Amino acid sequence: MVDFTRALLRWHRRSGRHDLPWQQNPSTYRVWVSEIMLQQTQVSTVIPYFQRFMQVFPDVNRLAGADLDQVLHLWTGMGYYARARNLHKAAQIIRHEYGGELPHELDALMALPGIGRSTAGAILSLSLNQSWPILDGNVKRVLTRYHAIRGWPGDKKTEQQLWQVAGQHTPKTQAAEYTQAIMDLGATLCTRSRPDCRRCPVKGACLAEQGNLQAVLPEKKARKALPVKQTVFAIIENAAGAVLLEKRPPSGLWGGLWGFPECAVDEEPAAWLNMSKGYVAEVKQQQAVIRHSFSHFHLDITPVKLLLCSTADRVEDKADECWYKPDGGLTLGMAAPVKKLMDGLFPTSTGAIQ
Ligand code: ADE
Repeated sequence: MVDFTRALLRWHRRSGRHDLPWQQNPSTYRVWVSEIMLQQTQVSTVIPYFQRFMQVFPDVNRLAGADLDQVLHLWTGMGYYARARNLHKAAQIIRHEYGGELPHELDALMALPGIGRSTAGAILSLSLNQSWPILDGNVKRVLTRYHAIRGWPGDKKTEQQLWQVAGQHTPKTQAAEYTQAIMDLGATLCTRSRPDCRRCPVKGACLAEQGNLQAVLPEKKARKALPVKQTVFAIIENAAGAVLLEKRPPSGLWGGLWGFPECAVDEEPAAWLNMSKGYVAEVKQQQAVIRHSFSHFHLDITPVKLLLCSTADRVEDKADECWYKPDGGLTLGMAAPVKKLMDGLFPTSTGAIQ
């Protein structure tokens, strides 16, 4: 038996959970129902649901003979109702094909609706002490940290690696205790945030602990590359040194905030300004692109400075346009990149409200 396993078993005898309802009389049926409930729901929430479920459906045949509505009713509040539908469907298969007793073989269990490899392993190890590894979210976290396994655990290659080490750690005997031990370690000490490494039974050999990688592992799923959109901010200055700002429509991107007039990247800014607003201006300078990132896309902004040639310098009568100078006493809400550009134009305060 490897040291990891021995340390976990010892720890579990002293500090693991031993009085959960499905640990009392852990039949294949009771363990199956509990494992399905625990797939997406916390232990404390599951306990009363499990107890009610067992009162109404004490065995597979009672569950198989029930109306789906009754099963769903007992599931109400736990969510992920496909779990309940699969449980009911699987119970009917077990009644018809296996005489009401869950099969004791991994492959046969995995062929039932709602039972994956990890759940099948948990059922067989917890109820029959068969030596099968499990790999639920908690176990993935423990093993990823202990072995400092890189890559997102949901990734095929990483998951394969995890199954391999999970198999190496699972003992031939005491599989039930070991399965509960590694689940409990993940749930109580090796938690996602702020793991309690001081009390961990395998801290001496944990590579994440040695390298201080607990916050980095398990790695997150690589984010998909976001699309890049482009725009031009026209920074139009008048003879008095004020710049033209527009109020954006109330909804949508930067809704209700003030910003520079925007034109499409394939437009010539001076011609666009003349066409759209009737102002005559000339381009003074094109600045370096600024990237502003939103949750769903990046916006690459090209700021273009223009100098107004016409005499227009007051548009106060428009509610959604103003010639802005930071010392003019105006405090305006501006989007972050607008404020940043404005700070560059007027190194003293913009007085803008973000
Ligand atoms: N999460 C999944 N299976 C569990 C079990 N048997 N005990 C506690 N938490 C669990």
